[in-house]
Amino acid sequence: MSFRAVFIAVTCGTALLVAAFMLNWYRPRVVTEQPTAELIRASGKCAECHVNLQYSVVHEYELSRHAKKGINCLECHQPAHGQEPLDHHGFSIAKRLTAANCRSCHEPVYQQFLRSRHAAPSWAAVYGKDAFTAEQIKFSEEFHPGSMNRPANPLVAAEGKAAATSGCASCHAVGKPNSQDGSIGTCTGCHSRHTASVELARLPQTCGQCHMGPDHSQIEIYEESKHGILFEAQRKLLDLTVEPRKLTTREMFVPTCATCHMSGLNGMNVTHDPSERLSYYLFAEISTKRPNAARGQAAMKDLCRNCHSQATIDRVYEQAERIVAETNEKVKSAREVLDGLRKEGLLGNTPFQHPIDFAYFDLWHYYGRTAKHGAFMGGADFVQWHGNYPLLKASIEINELANELRRAHGK
Ligand code: HEC
Ligand code: HEC
Ligand code: HEC
Ligand code: HEC
Ligand code: HEC
Ligand code: HEC
Ligand code: HEC
Ligand code: HEC
Repeated sequence: MSFRAVFIAVTCGTALLVAAFMLNWYRPRVVTEQPTAELIRASGKCAECHVNLQYSVVHEYELSRHAKKGINCLECHQPAHGQEPLDHHGFSIAKRLTAANCRSCHEPVYQQFLRSRHAAPSWAAVYGKDAFTAEQIKFSEEFHPGSMNRPANPLVAAEGKAAATSGCASCHAVGKPNSQDGSIGTCTGCHSRHTASVELARLPQTCGQCHMGPDHSQIEIYEESKHGILFEAQRKLLDLTVEPRKLTTREMFVPTCATCHMSGLNGMNVTHDPSERLSYYLFAEISTKRPNAARGQAAMKDLCRNCHSQATIDRVYEQAERIVAETNEKVKSAREVLDGLRKEGLLGNTPFQHPIDFAYFDLWHYYGRTAKHGAFMGGADFVQWHGNYPLLKASIEINELANELRRAHGK
């Protein structure tokens, strides 16, 4: 080999090495030091530190549709309009994230969410209207009359601030007003922070985080219903990951909460407003029909029709509507007893003072609601043993407590 050939080879080799070194120098360290494909996607700089600090955060993100679509950490974490910026290792990030940080890319979904009871009415149910602007109050009142123009719930003062924060607000903060950026609520209750998955949102347990317990036993009712039993048994055969507007009864032949209240099954519309398919205010002391009752009921029945015959659906609704009417009568009779005591001056106007207040609250808030919810969602045990039976017992107790009160006052 001639000197000339050796010289060219050595020069070219060195040049290549230098070029490779220089190219590498410009690449983020995360790419060179931890060269998995996932980490490259996990938006370099943030992941470089956070993969060591909170591996789970970065990992959840890597699994998400956001990572697959190239959305990076900063696109969510940058301050939205009005949010306080925080200097963070050379980046400007928001101190706290809210629905505003999702809204930038999901405006239509945010608008549906905003119309729902999961938004402002949720927070107002606990703390009243004080934290909202006049515009926000007007907006939600239009969709849900009476949901905003109300004072704080009396239990907040009776039980104390800490109780309300760790209790009520843990569920009701889904609609907390975010004064800095003007948005309402958070999307993470159903989607979590980093998975942002529709699969998670379609799982009954996700709704069951909040929709549980004796005052709204939806998850318990579901788990005991034929739908819940079949979901459990056939979970592996269902595909909960299908893109929203493409979900059909082929992948989802058993319904979860989301299927009935939100999903667009077989071409129906997807909604982030779960009131759209409802016809009664079942949570109310005395249940009345909603303003758009006929439309709401028709929409839910259309949904049922994807899997059932009209006769089955009509039977369920007829029976459940009779439970609503009967429960209303039972609650009214008990309320008349309390109204009578008030008229006679034996009971103050402040709630939660006397044992009879609690007996009455349990009667409608636990047992009445449970019976009504059980009747619509296939929970026979809830209509009966967690509903009508304790309701009957509470009404006898209320009469007895009323007699005692009268005797104590020499009447
Ligand atoms: C040089 C390392 C480093 C980089 C780069 C970095 N972080 Fe951090 N980050 C940290 C450390 C350390 C903490 C913990 C601070 C603490 O415990 O108070 C933290 C905390 C956070 C928190 C929690 C803040 C809080 O107050 O709760 C968030 C959110 C966050 N980082 C997001 C990001 C995002 C998004 C990026 C990229 C734009 C990023 N980080 C880049 C090191 C880093
Ligand atoms: C889809 C939007 C989104 C993306 C993308 C995203 N985050 Fe987050 N992240 C959130 C939300 C929402 C929170 C909750 C913040 C809050 O409550 O104020 C959060 C919280 C965090 C926290 C605090 C966790 C805790 O429990 O204290 C860290 C750290 C963090 N993110 C880092 C990252 C990193 C690193 C990436 C990229 C690998 C990333 N995030 C990508 C939305 C996102
Ligand atoms: C920078 C834009 C951007 C931001 C910010 C953003 N997303 Fe997304 N999101 C997307 C894109 C793009 C997709 C993928 C859409 C598609 O597949 O057609 C997506 C998809 C989703 C999906 C569907 C995932 C699936 O499994 O199909 C959910 C749920 C979601 N985002 C929730 C959120 C939430 C919650 C936040 C705020 C914490 C957020 N997004 C913030 C752009 C964004
Ligand atoms: C475990 C979660 C959770 C906790 C804790 C919780 N709630 Fe609720 N609350 C809900 C859910 C879910 C509903 C919807 C029930 C329904 O529609 O059947 C609801 C409904 C309500 C309603 C009726 C709806 C309305 O807008 O008038 C009021 C009022 C209410 N909650 C107030 C409170 C108060 C006050 C507290 C604390 C003392 C509290 N909640 C604690 C989850 C919770
Ligand atoms: C009450 C639970 C819940 C809340 C709160 C919620 N989502 Fe969803 N989201 C769902 C469910 C369930 C689906 C899947 C619907 C289906 O099965 O077709 C979904 C689907 C989505 C999708 C994909 C569907 C589409 O139309 O593109 C996006 C994006 C999304 N949500 C974003 C958000 C954003 C942004 C927020 C906050 C403003 C939010 N979600 C709040 C339950 C929720
Ligand atoms: C973070 C807690 C939380 C989660 C998670 C949650 N909800 Fe709710 N939901 C509430 C609260 C609080 C209310 C009561 C709002 C009000 O009326 O004041 C409510 C109300 C409702 C209502 C009644 C609306 C009306 O008009 O009366 C429906 C239906 C509903 N949720 C369905 C769902 C479904 C389906 C899921 C899961 C995909 C879900 N929720 C997840 C907290 C939650
Ligand atoms: C098979 C369909 C179906 C399934 C599954 C289902 N629901 Fe329902 N749900 C209904 C019907 C029907 C009503 C009553 C509708 C009406 O008012 O006309 C209802 C009522 C409700 C209400 C009552 C709102 C009020 O007025 O108080 C809430 C909240 C609710 N469902 C949440 C859930 C949750 C959470 C799950 C899952 C754990 C679930 N549902 C599962 C069909 C379903
Ligand atoms: C995605 C499909 C699907 C949807 C939507 C659906 N169901 Fe079902 N339902 C089923 C399946 C599957 C069974 C179990 C049937 C069996 O026993 O083989 C079932 C069982 C039932 C049963 C008990 C069996 C019976 O005939 O007495 C009732 C009642 C019922 N559903 C009512 C409803 C109502 C009301 C709705 C709408 C609010 C609804 N379902 C929505 C799939 C669905």
